[in-house]
Amino acid sequence: MTAILPRPRGWPSILLARARAADPTDLDAALAAGAFEGLRRAIRQLGPAATIAEVEASGLRGRGGAGHRTAAKWRAAASTPARIRYVVANGYGADPGASTDRTLLETDPYAVVEGVAIAAFAVGAEEAFISVRTTATEALRRIQAAVDTASSRNFIGDDVLGSGVRIEIEVRPVQGAYMLGEETVLLKALDGKRGQPEQRPPHPATRGFRDAPTVIQNVQTLAAVPWILRKGAAAFAAIGTEDAPGTILVDVRGHQRSGVAEVQLGTPLRDIVALGGRPRPRRSLKAVLVGGPTGGILPAAALDTPYTFEALRGAGAHVGSGSVIVADDRACVVDLGRLLTRYSADEACGKTIPCRIGVRRIAEIGERLTTGTSRAGDLELLTDLAADVVGSGLCDHERLATLPMLSGLRYFRDEVDAHYLRGECPAGVCRPISLGVPAAARTTRGRGAARPVPSTTAARAQA
Ligand SMILES: Cc1cc2nc3c(=O)[nH]c(=O)nc-3n(C[C@H](O)[C@H](O)[C@H](O)COP(=O)(O)O)c2cc1C
Ligand code: SF4
Repeated sequence: MTAILPRPRGWPSILLARARAADPTDLDAALAAGAFEGLRRAIRQLGPAATIAEVEASGLRGRGGAGHRTAAKWRAAASTPARIRYVVANGYGADPGASTDRTLLETDPYAVVEGVAIAAFAVGAEEAFISVRTTATEALRRIQAAVDTASSRNFIGDDVLGSGVRIEIEVRPVQGAYMLGEETVLLKALDGKRGQPEQRPPHPATRGFRDAPTVIQNVQTLAAVPWILRKGAAAFAAIGTEDAPGTILVDVRGHQRSGVAEVQLGTPLRDIVALGGRPRPRRSLKAVLVGGPTGGILPAAALDTPYTFEALRGAGAHVGSGSVIVADDRACVVDLGRLLTRYSADEACGKTIPCRIGVRRIAEIGERLTTGTSRAGDLELLTDLAADVVGSGLCDHERLATLPMLSGLRYFRDEVDAHYLRGECPAGVCRPISLGVPAAARTTRGRGAARPVPSTTAARAQA
């Protein structure tokens, strides 16, 4: 199990409120802590329309990365004429370096089950799936135990809480590559099909699993819903920011500590980074990778950025998988950008050509930068390629894949130039570079031609 980082005094806890429970699959203990009160209120007091209205009033936005408005999806699914509708909880956790969703499934499986049940009731779905990565064995064991126990006590099943409402929930282990976390790919995988992202619209809310209206949401999004119905939309809206209420899980790889933590949306990055401790003696913070493999590489100067969907996007990063990885002064941001872009290029499904070719070309520029083989105009080509690629894909991967290199260029220009113009890696990470003289430094022709800058490395190589 991933460690849970200590919560500073006064920080609210919704998703990890039961993280210290002796046995998270103990239904009686969960009931004593308020489990299934939200579902009871939805079914006995509110009804579907008022349940959606309550979620809308809370301002809940999706925790799967992009921050889509939850109630809008529910309303779209509920209002699309159909005989069958589905709810799917996305617990795949595509980022191999983040364990936020897995931690939630392990520590509060009943919140996920209840959230799925409330969503199903609200949109009129009788069947729902909770998809979890096959390798998350403990998460799978616990969520299956929670589904089985909740079903045996009529919190889900044929006759939910004696109301005549039917909600069947099935846990589906899934395994695949990075793209499997993308909603249209996951929906196909659940149907036993090999998938690539689909054109939208139609969105899954109107045409999803087996062409039926489908609410597909991240497990954290759904797990927040029981709390909202139990405590009220206003209580939820009072946490976080006006436009991004509530809390979210982050996976912090810090200077001294690593683990999952729950933070209010709007928390400054500085406070999130602090959860991982201070830099070690004689070291300093150089950069923070925010958002996972397709995240942005932000400098220490950006630490006041509030952790919200829009603010991170403005800073050149994104919420993504919730991963926040700290790099100290020994790291080379150019090499980090190269590595991440290479990963994104390898994981791109290839269905849309600008993503398939463009992201790989950007990765190649990163490889040239880190091996002393840059060509004149490479940096301009990088920004041109990124501009061409962004917006041309079917699933946003193409846009996100450009973030590591673009944020590196935006915030660490001196370090990029050292690689590009002088064939030097100031951090001493890109070792082969010391033997090379980038063409960018040798030619004055071509796009964005760079002026040669004398350096000891270059002079040595030319001698
Ligand atoms: C390449 C890619 C990978 C994704 N991986 C995940 C994932 O692992 N888990 C997840 O919840 N959403 C993932 N998403 C986002 C989903 O497509 C979808 O937007 C999300 O599950 C919707 O839930 P939400 O409204 O609760 O955020 C991914 C998106 C892309 C483009
Ligand atoms: S944007 Fe990239 S990952 Fe997404 S569908 Fe197109 S090729 Fe596949």
